[in-house]
Amino acid sequence: MGLKLKNVLPMFVFLLLASTAKAQSAALDVTSEKYGGKPDADITQALEKAWTDACASTAPSKIVVPKGTFKFVGTTFKGPCKAAIEFQLQGTLQAPVDGSQLPKDDTWIGFDNVDGLTLSGGGTFDGQGAESWKNNDCNKNRQCKSKHINLRFHLLTNSKILDVTSKDSKNFHVNLLKCEKVEFNGFTVTAPKESMNTDGIHIGRSTGINITATTIGTGDDCISIGDGTKDLTVTNVTCGPGHGIAIGSLGRYPEEEPVSGINIKKCTLTDTSNGVRIKTWPASPKDSTASDIHFEDITMVNVGNPILIDQEYCPWNECKKGVPSKVKISNVSFKNIKGTCTDPVAVKLACSPGLPCENVELSDIDLKSNWNF
Ligand SMILES: *[C@@H]1O[C@H](CO)[C@@H](O)[C@H](O)[C@H]1NC(C)=O
Ligand SMILES: *[C@@H]1O[C@H](CO)[C@@H](O)[C@H](O)[C@H]1NC(C)=O
Ligand SMILES: *[C@@H]1O[C@H](CO)[C@@H](O)[C@H](O)[C@H]1NC(C)=O
Repeated sequence: MGLKLKNVLPMFVFLLLASTAKAQSAALDVTSEKYGGKPDADITQALEKAWTDACASTAPSKIVVPKGTFKFVGTTFKGPCKAAIEFQLQGTLQAPVDGSQLPKDDTWIGFDNVDGLTLSGGGTFDGQGAESWKNNDCNKNRQCKSKHINLRFHLLTNSKILDVTSKDSKNFHVNLLKCEKVEFNGFTVTAPKESMNTDGIHIGRSTGINITATTIGTGDDCISIGDGTKDLTVTNVTCGPGHGIAIGSLGRYPEEEPVSGINIKKCTLTDTSNGVRIKTWPASPKDSTASDIHFEDITMVNVGNPILIDQEYCPWNECKKGVPSKVKISNVSFKNIKGTCTDPVAVKLACSPGLPCENVELSDIDLKSNWNF
């Protein structure tokens, strides 16, 4: 008995030591003397230094940007890092108004190759995009200049984006590429209805992404789901203003990958130009698929085109019309979709005449049109 107790006690002391060591990995406050960040000044270098320290730490660490407004010209925070990092933004980070001052031409703030990131703190990433929207011709001009995305996540894994806000991005607010197991919870996107190309969250080539309890108001799609997206769950998302929740557009480029396992549930769309839709380009360069896509328990309030499959998506006449889309759409359901719409047509299914949709199910659809017939 005595012997056993002796063995237990040192164990206990060791555990206590371990937990105090963890608690001691102090917050890296960018306004501390060490980093020297000051309110209303540019804190790019302070934040980069804090990231370097956090990334090198073998214990989980926390970067803190306290309340206040800070300027930030932009950077890409790179991994791999040695342990998890919480990036706590309590205040506001402001991008330069003039896009040419940002170090990269497609990104304001990037996270690249990071595992175990948590973005939290209730603060705001303010892209100050109003000037850029005026000059945005990206719809017509591929060489366009205004491509700065507020938050670009590349190869981000096992991470959480929590109660922060992305405001007035110059272009898309959030772009996920090649990410895995990322949760958005309590996230907010805000930009005016007139802001061009300011998609809320765009997802591409990513697996296991969850978006929940998120509020998105913007000038383009609230959520757009690009090629190679698999196992995406969207629940309790409020969208509006904006262009709704869209799969696609797909079938425009030759290197595209299939989309599958998309569940959009318990969402409310208000005053959006579209509701839930799947859009693919005609004359796709190669065969692809979009399957296992489910929309359920969706409330529409004054929505144009609430339910739409559009395989003749061809904005700005940039395609060969009349040549069928080669994206095969199958196993799609629209269930319990209710509310009001502003267009005379509430449901439109324009499938590819070359590769017809298969197994599309509609049930419990109750949409009233406000259109003056
Ligand atoms: C996403 O949600 C699913 C089911 O609701 C859950 O099993 C999974 O762990 C969640 N993933 C993340 C990254 O939160
Ligand atoms: C839905 O999201 C809102 C925030 O947008 C949150 O306040 C609410 O608790 C969530 N509801 C559920 C059932 O998760
Ligand atoms: C569609 O669903 C059927 C029946 O559940 C299944 O056999 C088939 O593999 C699915 N097709 C795709 C492309 O997911």
